[in-house]
Amino acid sequence: MPGKLNDRRQRHDPYYRRAKSESYAARSVYKLQELDERFGLLRAGQRVLDLGCRPGSWLQYASARVGPQGRIVGLDREPLPITLPSHVRLIVGDVLTIGGDALRGALPCFDLVLSDMAPDTSGVASSDQLRSAELFERALALSLELGCAQTAFVAKILMGEGFEPALASVKRAYRRTKVVRPDATRRQSTEVYVVALERREAPVPAP
Ligand SMILES: C[S@@+](CC[C@H](N)C(=O)[O-])C[C@H]1O[C@@H](n2cnc3c(N)ncnc32)[C@H](O)[C@@H]1O
Repeated sequence: MPGKLNDRRQRHDPYYRRAKSESYAARSVYKLQELDERFGLLRAGQRVLDLGCRPGSWLQYASARVGPQGRIVGLDREPLPITLPSHVRLIVGDVLTIGGDALRGALPCFDLVLSDMAPDTSGVASSDQLRSAELFERALALSLELGCAQTAFVAKILMGEGFEPALASVKRAYRRTKVVRPDATRRQSTEVYVVALERREAPVPAP
């Protein structure tokens, strides 16, 4: 039974247990923590956009790191099951149809754009990969539209079809890029995170 298998797998998963004991909404918080510790992504007072934020562990972590002077906007198709501090604004909507202005609100720009978005899996690897790449490219477009001059960009993508063109798009827009598979990524997952730093003043044109 998939439900029972899932329960058993979770009980034996150290990241799941740790997230529960530290009151985080999801184990994926440790992926962001690893990336933050490695690349120094989050600082007090920053403005952060978190795309695909449900159930909210990245929002919990990022809101503590930026502190009450910072601002965070989280977007997801579904409402969140947790209560958030007052410097976090949640928008329920679809990243593929929402306009940049609705996300920006009263903020001039974002210092960091995060995307942990994942498509609903169909079981057909190639179509899941293409949909993941579509979400990734949309997150990158929003990072370029709404980011400050020094914006950093971090986004998840499934390896496979669509990955190389997506990575090439990031490299045209940012000077430093790194593809990372955090320790907390499940063994069977094909996900990686692209970390992009030092935004170029003018993106290199596509060939
Ligand atoms: C892996 S979860 C994110 C976990 C989150 N980072 C956390 O730590 O709690 C991926 C989320 O992406 C959202 N998502 C997928 N496609 C989306 C879309 N088109 N627009 C907005 N959110 C989307 C899903 O609803 C889901 O909640």
